[in-house]
Amino acid sequence: MKCFYLVTILVSTFAEQFTFNAYRYTLELLLQEPSSGSYSKSDAAPVQELWLSQKLDHFDELNNKTWQMRYLRNDKYHKPQGPIYIFVGGEWTITPGLLSTGLTHDMAVENAGILFYTEHRYYGQSLPHNSSHNSMSLENLKHLNLHQALADLACFIRYQKSHSANLTHSKVILIGGSYSGSMVAWMTQLYPELVTASWASSAPLLAKANFYEYMQFVGNSINLTYGHNCTQRLENGFNHLVKLFNTNKISKLLERLDACASFNASDLLDRISFFNGIGNYFALVVQSYSEYIPALCNTLMSLHSSDELALERFLERLYSGDDKRLREFRCQDFSYKAMLEVFSDVSDRSTGTRAWFYQTCNQFGWYTTTTTTNCSTSASSCMSFGSQVPVWYFEQLCRDTFGPGQTPAALAMGIAEMNAQFGGFEFNQSVVYRELFFTHGELDPWRALGHQLGNQAVIIAGYSHVEDLASVNVRDSVQMNLVKLRIMSFLRRHVAS
Ligand SMILES: *[C@@H]1O[C@H](CO)[C@@H](O)[C@H](O)[C@H]1NC(C)=O
Ligand SMILES: *[C@@H]1O[C@H](CO)[C@@H](O)[C@H](O)[C@H]1NC(C)=O
Ligand SMILES: *[C@@H]1O[C@H](CO)[C@@H](O)[C@H](O)[C@H]1NC(C)=O
Ligand SMILES: *[C@@H]1O[C@H](CO)[C@@H](O)[C@H](O)[C@H]1NC(C)=O
Ligand SMILES: *[C@@H]1O[C@H](CO)[C@@H](O)[C@H](O)[C@H]1NC(C)=O
Ligand SMILES: *[C@@H]1O[C@H](CO)[C@@H](O)[C@H](O)[C@H]1NC(C)=O
Ligand SMILES: *[C@@H]1O[C@H](CO)[C@@H](O)[C@H](O)[C@H]1NC(C)=O
Ligand SMILES: *[C@@H]1O[C@H](CO)[C@@H](O)[C@H](O)[C@H]1NC(C)=O
Repeated sequence: MKCFYLVTILVSTFAEQFTFNAYRYTLELLLQEPSSGSYSKSDAAPVQELWLSQKLDHFDELNNKTWQMRYLRNDKYHKPQGPIYIFVGGEWTITPGLLSTGLTHDMAVENAGILFYTEHRYYGQSLPHNSSHNSMSLENLKHLNLHQALADLACFIRYQKSHSANLTHSKVILIGGSYSGSMVAWMTQLYPELVTASWASSAPLLAKANFYEYMQFVGNSINLTYGHNCTQRLENGFNHLVKLFNTNKISKLLERLDACASFNASDLLDRISFFNGIGNYFALVVQSYSEYIPALCNTLMSLHSSDELALERFLERLYSGDDKRLREFRCQDFSYKAMLEVFSDVSDRSTGTRAWFYQTCNQFGWYTTTTTTNCSTSASSCMSFGSQVPVWYFEQLCRDTFGPGQTPAALAMGIAEMNAQFGGFEFNQSVVYRELFFTHGELDPWRALGHQLGNQAVIIAGYSHVEDLASVNVRDSVQMNLVKLRIMSFLRRHVAS
């Protein structure tokens, strides 16, 4: 069960420290592992943790260095030569849930399959430089990229098939969500001989630096779920904040948010970070907690009769503690430095934020800017969340995090190579990719970069990011359950043939 307390989360977590990073928690939650529903200890009992030795550099014959990749296995339902279902891990720590319950698990039960869950290099415990105290230093991150991760997956599949007589002739089904959904699609393209069929949930396919569509979709999804009142209020509220900055009147509000004195409202980077951080909060609700959109809007609508003051009050609730004793001792750090700090911990072993930022700085971009507004006349609500966050801010974050070599030109080249190799979201499903099924949530901001057309792509109304991984459930919409049956029948057809 996901637990999320709309207003109190940011307050309770870091209660012992004096300076709270106002951005860290939201950024970490945006990278959390997808869930396939709640499960019990006994559901997870058959899931084993195993390790596989992998080459550090699959593309350098002369480099013999290896590292230990963690993976999970559930062979409870497996009959010899039954299909292999691999849930591909993304930018998170893997846990037994996806092999203990949910649609992937149910398909293995139905077809006497074996379940695997691979952990992505540089995330969770699959750390190539585990013994180093700065396992995430720039030098150590050299071997973190998509192509190495896909090669890990290829070796994994070859290893499993060759090391168990019971798997030699097994069909291989890949499943992934979010970035790991993209990996599944790209894997199908790079290693077609290893993959029988795949399902990619909420997968972005087009790499691009300026992902301005993301925040626009966030606005659209709020408008769609609750109505124009709420988006109007947010839009006016954000514009009001911009005006407060422009007229040097933001300090009173900052005080009420317990902002640290080091925040410099005249400094452009501090100001952009502030808007980026607040925007991320609304993004998180839409992406991962869309069932809370109505509660969020109801709160916004009820806090004050004016749009401007309603957002101020909302932010006060979000950031400032109720506990008066604590308030004397602590402050919220909204500075650019705080944003930078989230990505700068070279010994980070648990959150994945630095590793993921490295990947975006080199191959994907996916920066959620708000300065590019491209409002078509059609029903888009075209919210701009204050229009303060440009692409150069992320470019600077990349450079300040990873050094002067991390240039916009380097990213542009990485992106161009990605899209030239994989075709972006003009994914051609006619021949090699006909074994691949895409699903998207209508409310999911990532959908803008996904493959949404054709017979093998579905958009599920009223749901957001990777919300389709759980078992068929009567509490879900009829469409959601029909889509799940369609995924099952699509993959079953490939397992049987
Ligand atoms: C390392 O790789 C080279 C070239 O493939 C090989 O000749 C050598 O035996 C390997 N060394 C070790 C320690 O495995
Ligand atoms: C990596 O290091 C952590 C903490 O030191 C340890 O718990 C874990 O077992 C190590 N993993 C590997 C594969 O060595
Ligand atoms: C293969 O399956 C049989 C029957 O389920 C089992 O007894 C045996 O241990 C399996 N062998 C391997 C190598 O997994
Ligand atoms: C939205 O605003 C209109 C008019 O301002 C009001 O009649 C309606 O009840 C509001 N809807 C919600 C959900 O607050
Ligand atoms: C705040 O930022 C402005 C603009 O960058 C700079 O000129 C000023 O010196 C800064 N103030 C402090 C106290 O650092
Ligand atoms: C803006 O939208 C139009 C139509 O939706 C599209 O053709 C155009 O390429 C977009 N412009 C940018 C800068 O994305
Ligand atoms: C928001 O949604 C409504 C439908 O509920 C639609 O009519 C409107 O165009 C959308 N956009 C804006 C800007 O409110
Ligand atoms: C997709 O690929 C097939 C085979 O390579 C080709 O014949 C077809 O024209 C392609 N379709 C598009 C839309 O690119």
